[in-house]
Parts: sequence; structure tokens; C-alpha cells
Amino acid sequence: MFKIAVLPGDGIGPEVIEEGLKVLSAIEDKYKLKFDVKKYPFGGEAIDKYGVPYPEETKNACLSSDAVLLGAVGGHKWDDLEGDKRPEAGLLALRKSLGVYANLRPAVLYPPLKEASPLKNELLQEGLDILVVRELTGGIYFGPRGTVAIDYGFKAYDTEVYQTSEIERIAVIAFEAALKRKKKVTSVDKANILDSSRLWRKTVEEISKRYPDVELNHMYVDNCAMQLIKNPSQFDVILTSNMFGDILSDEASQLTGSIGMLPSASLREDKVGLYEPIHGSAPDIAGTKKANPLATILSVAMMLEYSFDLIDAANDIKDAVNKVLEAGYRTFDLGKGIILNTHEMGDKVVEYVKG
Ligand code: NAI
Ligand code: MG
Repeated sequence: MFKIAVLPGDGIGPEVIEEGLKVLSAIEDKYKLKFDVKKYPFGGEAIDKYGVPYPEETKNACLSSDAVLLGAVGGHKWDDLEGDKRPEAGLLALRKSLGVYANLRPAVLYPPLKEASPLKNELLQEGLDILVVRELTGGIYFGPRGTVAIDYGFKAYDTEVYQTSEIERIAVIAFEAALKRKKKVTSVDKANILDSSRLWRKTVEEISKRYPDVELNHMYVDNCAMQLIKNPSQFDVILTSNMFGDILSDEASQLTGSIGMLPSASLREDKVGLYEPIHGSAPDIAGTKKANPLATILSVAMMLEYSFDLIDAANDIKDAVNKVLEAGYRTFDLGKGIILNTHEMGDKVVEYVKG
């Protein structure tokens, strides 16, 4: 039995999580599975109750679970708190405690939402289904840094550092993911300039020998930024470092329309994972039933796929989402159509999952 710790969080977090759990229980019924699902306080809610965003009880539950499903945290109520006491500090502590070093962000354009993409329709003929695999715990965000006074003003530096083992483990995640997809990995670096990128490239080449069925190509990051706009359908899995991945995954996500559609996973090798929509707690629409729950529902699909190997069930959810959109149903962020509120959208997905 899979154990899932659910952290609804703040704002629209609990609203979208409710719908994600609805869909999860439809999958339980359909496939005669049993998930052990329990909710724990996290973020602002936990600060109000316990004074800290990531209480011990929540941490123990997360560390003993097969997967963690997170809504979103934060809100104006806690805006005046200091850095490490804020709800968002809980996010970093959570990711760190789980040791998840691979961030997976799919950018999928559901065909019925073509008009929501800023790209020209002719570029989208072959569809858009890219998975960005971003290294999450190394690179320039964690390398030696500093600011020193010099004759005129200051000198500040940040350092890109990668070691073989860090590159190997993220590459394995990318190749494994590619095996379940179109079997193509594009490794993105700046190997014409950076030593760290040359090690990246060499190490990825080595790992690729274990995956003869997966096609590997290399691309410089500046070219990749351009190709994402010019010819996005050439990509399947993009494998890249922390900073390049931060930038490219935001770029790729914007090709698909609304932030309310985008799920994410953060993984480590034993398949324990953290799953969350990429959006925040959206205080501007919290309580109005306007939140789009699809990013969370699709995060549930990622959990089934990556942590539990339930590929059919994951595909059922993705198909259901596509069918709901095809039938013209929309939440308000998705433009014209039959507008549903958060719960109605969750119910529709359940209806199509049941088939
Ligand atoms: P946000 O992602 O919460 O909202 C940005 C805009 O997108 C808003 O207009 C919002 O209404 C809209 N939006 C977001 N999710 C939506 C959904 N599911 N359906 C429809 N519309 C949606 O980002 P913002 O406003 O910068 O941050 C709000 C709070 O969330 C802050 O306290 C921030 O620190 C926190 N935050 C938390 C994150 C997390 O928990 N992982 C990530 C990003 C921000
Ligand atoms: Mg970013």
C-alpha cells in the first residue's frame, strides 16, 4: 500500500488538493488500489498552529511516506514575517529534508488549448510535450559565493560547481524518463565555454551508453532558448543544470498557456517524490472557487507514474483532462468555453476517469 503525505497549505492550496484527492480516489476505485492518504499542516497553516512552517510531525510523516503531495503555501497574513519564519521557508526545508535532487517539469500543450499558446499555430502542428529535467541541489545556486570590497566598489562572485556523481544521478533520471516517452534526451550545457559543462557533457555521454535505445544529443543553452520558440516539437526530454533548468523550464511552461495547468515532480533515485503544481497560493482568487485544479490533478498523475509505476492510471488522468478540455469545459483562467468552478472541474475529470 502506497503511503502519501498530503500538505494542502494555504490560499487555493486546500481547494485544488481537494480535487486532486477526488481524482486519486476515482483511480483507487477503478484499479482496486488502496492508498494511505493523510493530511498534515504545512506553511502558513502550520505557522498559525505551531509557530513553524514545517513542524516535526509533518516532517516525520513526509520522511516515512512514498510520496508527498503539496498544494501551495503563502499569503498576505504572513508577509511581514522574517525570511526563515515565512511559509515559503517550509518549501526549501521540505525539499532539502526529502533530498530530492531532480525537478521534472512537463510542458504539455493540450490540443484544445492551442489558442492559449503564444506560439503560432503552424509551430504546434506536431503538438508540444516536453519534459524538462532540472538538477536541483547543485550548480551555481549552491557553489562558493561572496562579495568583497575592492578599490572601486565591490567584487561579487557565484561559482558553478558540479561533480561526476551529481551529474550521473540526474542523467539517470532523465534517461529513465525518456524510456517511458519518445526516447530522446537533449542535454543542455555551455560546453564551449564552461569546464563544468564539459564534465557535464562527458558524464552524460558515459551514462547514455547504458541506454542504447535512447537517442542523445547536446545543445548549447543559448541555442536551446531559441529552439524552444522556433521548433519546440523537436524536444522530448531536456536534461540540464540547476540554473539553466530554472530559466528554460519557465520558458517552456509559457508555451503551453496557463500556470493553472502545470504540474511538477521532484525526485530522488528510490522514487520517493514530491509532487506539486508550479503555481503559488493565489491569494487574489482564494475562496472564490475560481482556482484551476488541473495542475494539481496532473501532479497526482505524475505521482502515479514516477513514484508508483502506475502508468495506465496516470495516462487515464491525462486523457481525462484532455477530454474535458476537448468537450469545451474551462476554468476561468483558460479563456472561452463552458466555465466551471474548481469543484465542478474536479468532478468532470472524475467523470471521464471513470469512463
Ligand atoms: P501565484 O502562482 O500564486 O499567482 C500568480 C497569478 O496566477 C495570480 O493572478 C493567480 O490568481 C494566478 N493563478 C495561480 N494559480 C492559479 C490556478 N490554479 N488557477 C487560476 N489562476 C491561478 O503567484 P504569486 O501571486 O506571485 O504568489 C502568491 C503567494 O504564493 C505568495 O505568498 C508566494 O510566495 C506563494 N508562492 C508559493 C509557491 C509554492 O507554494 N510552491 C510558489 C509560488 C508562489
Ligand atoms: Mg524560476
